[in-house]
Amino acid sequence: MKIKDVVIETPLFLAPMAGVTDLAFRKICRELGAGATVTEMVSSRALVYQDKKSNQILRLGEGEHPSAVQIFGNDPDVMAQAAVLALERSGADMIDLNMGCPTPKIVNNGDGSALMQNPALAARIITAVADAVPCPVTVKFRTGWDAGSINVLDFAKMAEASGADAICIHGRTRKQMYSGRANWDHIRDAARAVSIPVIANGDVFTPEDCVRVLDYTGAAGVMIGRAAFGNPWLFSQAKAALLGKEIPALPPLSERLEVALRQVTLSIEEKGERVAVLEARKYLAWYLRGVRGANYYKDRLFSLTTHEEVVRTVRELQHVLR
Ligand SMILES: Cc1cc2nc3c(=O)[nH]c(=O)nc-3n(C[C@H](O)[C@H](O)[C@H](O)COP(=O)(O)O)c2cc1C
Repeated sequence: MKIKDVVIETPLFLAPMAGVTDLAFRKICRELGAGATVTEMVSSRALVYQDKKSNQILRLGEGEHPSAVQIFGNDPDVMAQAAVLALERSGADMIDLNMGCPTPKIVNNGDGSALMQNPALAARIITAVADAVPCPVTVKFRTGWDAGSINVLDFAKMAEASGADAICIHGRTRKQMYSGRANWDHIRDAARAVSIPVIANGDVFTPEDCVRVLDYTGAAGVMIGRAAFGNPWLFSQAKAALLGKEIPALPPLSERLEVALRQVTLSIEEKGERVAVLEARKYLAWYLRGVRGANYYKDRLFSLTTHEEVVRTVRELQHVLR
């Protein structure tokens, strides 16, 4: 697929996920077949007011292209300035605007999916950003605020008319947060209503789902979020499925744990040992999901504090679990 002049060879996106899709995890997903990645969301205000943590979120891996940085906020001028800064600092290929985040902290400020209740302001933001940056601008949103106010079609048309070069639709309302089913019918209707590329998101768990959601909705690309937790191989499997090839089996546990360990090492390089190992507790457990006998070790993972302990524990797991 193409988003303006940016070519995405494999239309498989790793979803932006705050606290999960850092540089280390994005790198691993790309190596395993993700065709495009998006950073965790960055506050436009924090960027404009020079917050250090935002710069770290903006860092891309070597060769991490095509990729997007995602910003959130509700002030068109601040968003436009933030987009320019984000592009300069990251070297990304696209700017993605977050209009889908449902978290109370975000929506209570009028950011994220709150903008679906204010399409006129959303339109001004999209236009301001599209006018400010030379790269493609994409918008990620939901189907509406709640079941009684589904406005995905109008919102999609508004985004296109305001200058968006592609849209990503998560097929849930704000009220649903992350529960209930994602509604692919709404994504299909929106894909028919606009001529910019649509990326379908929500409830894509398997390689077969990737093929199904593209066929069903007519979207140009698919975005995978939670199903990639501890399972970056979903991208290699999905890539094979999209190409009509045989879907490769999941590698043996020992090899999967080697990748998990690599994620920890990459993350330490980026964030330092203390923070990286604390974060690793959560995602190492994800790599063990569904593994027989692994529950016994999960408590151990939650007490890890150093790289050395991580390596020792992973080696032990490789030895005792199959
Ligand atoms: C832990 C977590 C963090 C997320 N952070 C972001 C974010 O920073 N920006 C964003 O647009 N969406 C964010 N999302 C939403 C995902 O990008 C995606 O739209 C959603 O999880 C649905 O896709 P899935 O069913 O494949 O998980 C987040 C989701 C999760 C679970």
